[in-house]
Amino acid sequence: MEAFPKVYVTRLIPKAGLDLLRGCVQVRVWEDELPPPREVLMEEAAEADGLLTLLTDEIDAALMDAAPRLRAVSNYAIGYDNVDVRAATERGIMVCHTPGILTDTTADFAFTLLASVSRRVVEAAQYVRAGKWRTWGPMLCLGHDLHGATLGLVGLGRIGSAVAKRATGFEMRILYYDVERVPALEEDLGVVYSDLDSLLARSDFVSLHTPLTSETHHLIGARELGLMKRSAILVNTSRGPVIDQEALYEALVSGEIAGAGLDVTDPEPIDPEDPLLQLDNCVVVPHIASASVATRTLMATMAAENLVAALQGRMPRNPVNPEVLDQKRRS
Ligand code: DGY
Repeated sequence: MEAFPKVYVTRLIPKAGLDLLRGCVQVRVWEDELPPPREVLMEEAAEADGLLTLLTDEIDAALMDAAPRLRAVSNYAIGYDNVDVRAATERGIMVCHTPGILTDTTADFAFTLLASVSRRVVEAAQYVRAGKWRTWGPMLCLGHDLHGATLGLVGLGRIGSAVAKRATGFEMRILYYDVERVPALEEDLGVVYSDLDSLLARSDFVSLHTPLTSETHHLIGARELGLMKRSAILVNTSRGPVIDQEALYEALVSGEIAGAGLDVTDPEPIDPEDPLLQLDNCVVVPHIASASVATRTLMATMAAENLVAALQGRMPRNPVNPEVLDQKRRS
């Protein structure tokens, strides 16, 4: 590694991560609340050996071509659909992400959303704030039980599995769909494989845990929503475009499904005028599933460690394209 490689960090991240970087590299940080504009990112990347990026930064081939020194992009997220990994690999740029450490925090939150929507927590809190609470009511804010219900998990990776563990405590029946069956987990977690259509038809709650790819874009559209129970609740903590949001609005308004909880939207941020935000049976929050103090701190140190390792020519703990280092070692 050169004496002081230059690293650009595209937002303020927890101090532990910045301190770690500052011990090893020259660091510039974009300190605004909003992401750096494209032209700023291009200018900074042009001078940088490494980038520590967020899911709001589009790291594409054009940016990489404008960054002749760039050797590593460390994404502060488990998802990396904002990075063109193929373009990075072709250019010998290592891409890293932050898997594992946010699993439990995200699974906790998927469950929080399930419970909030099914027990109408947001609507009930607004009712109290609006001064409408006059007495205990036998019919007031009736919701649906989680315990004993059927949960359908779309995706049984780390986060889907962690949601299954939580669901077991609620004595839920658990179905899962994934591109491949995972017999070992079926036994461990007590989950039952189902094709997507019958999972949607049989579940009281559906929780999405897939990465965003061309195959999962609008995986849940009008047809799929039409298969779901009218009492069903859909929760998304994966990526917004996995759901066709217009179709979701229609399904929520027509009563085709009972409710939805969205941690992620398409686009982000969602337009404040979006009609979804007017619906009592839809809870939308600003992509906060991994947002605990402990987890965001761990993400910062992991992203920083990954970046330093890549810049030092070592294999980072969490590479997305490890073949880059092998190529370098061979050349
Ligand atoms: C991720 O890491 O991909 C989440 O969406 C944000 O923590």
